[in-house]
Amino acid sequence: MIKKCLFPVAGYGTRFLPATKAMPKEILPILDKPLVQYAVEEAHEAGLSDLGFVTGRGKRALEDHFDVSYELEHQIQGSGKEKQLEGIRKLIDECTFSYTRQIEMKGLGHAILTGRTLVGDEPFGVVLADDLCFGEGVGVLAQMAKLYNQFRCSIVAIEEVPKDETNKYGVIAGEALTDNIFRVTDMVEKPDPKDAPSNMAIIGRYILTPDIFDIIENTEPGKNGEVQITDALLQQAKEGCVIAYKFSGKRFDCGSVKGFVEATNFCYEEFYLKNEPSATVVPIKKTK
Ligand code: G1P
Repeated sequence: MIKKCLFPVAGYGTRFLPATKAMPKEILPILDKPLVQYAVEEAHEAGLSDLGFVTGRGKRALEDHFDVSYELEHQIQGSGKEKQLEGIRKLIDECTFSYTRQIEMKGLGHAILTGRTLVGDEPFGVVLADDLCFGEGVGVLAQMAKLYNQFRCSIVAIEEVPKDETNKYGVIAGEALTDNIFRVTDMVEKPDPKDAPSNMAIIGRYILTPDIFDIIENTEPGKNGEVQITDALLQQAKEGCVIAYKFSGKRFDCGSVKGFVEATNFCYEEFYLKNEPSATVVPIKKTK
């Protein structure tokens, strides 16, 4: 059973300036819930309750969000508003939250390596909060955790993207084991469309085996001079096995204004208009 999950949340969120000047981008809400809470809910639903955050300067609001606010809670006690804090209270009661700081921004691989002290020597999940995912029937990380139990190796979630967008993602090539499960044979970080091995893009959900830490330590900076998790995973794929999984559900790039607005509209229709609290699981869509 995987218990731990890392959330790299040190990034600046420059695409959302000025909103993110004094506030972490992960606190930006979709409807009434911050992105980071969706991410934590997805991990919790997958059974991962030891949660580690790789934070940076200006990110204290994240720690406060996952803590009790006595004054506020006292203030709204007995009012209808209490209900609005039920979800976050449940997470606080059922999960543990640990934090470490990434002093320098040297890439996602480096952020994950910084989280090593919070993870130790066991498999763990990684969730990038700005990729907001809604799993069909079951959350995306829970789908991946199930697959981990079958393969016992690192898993990346993938999605087909338009060919001209491969330069925004890590892109894989793989041997199909089923319609939605691939054994990775190659992966490239943000390739030009002409060099991309496919249009299957890695999205911000990973399950990693702990040998990844030593591999990252020995991974040279790659694309944009940053230590890339994609490069470390390619090493792991060559030495053993990495599985790419086309998940069931939807994903929005909430690191961009367009994706953020689309996610908001999706939640508005899927949850708000139906008078339901927004969640990271949606009903399975019936195929015609
Ligand atoms: C990171 C990874 C990339 C992955 C993406 C998913 O890139 O480096 O491989 O496809 O997350 O969101 P970033 O978006 O942080 O530049």
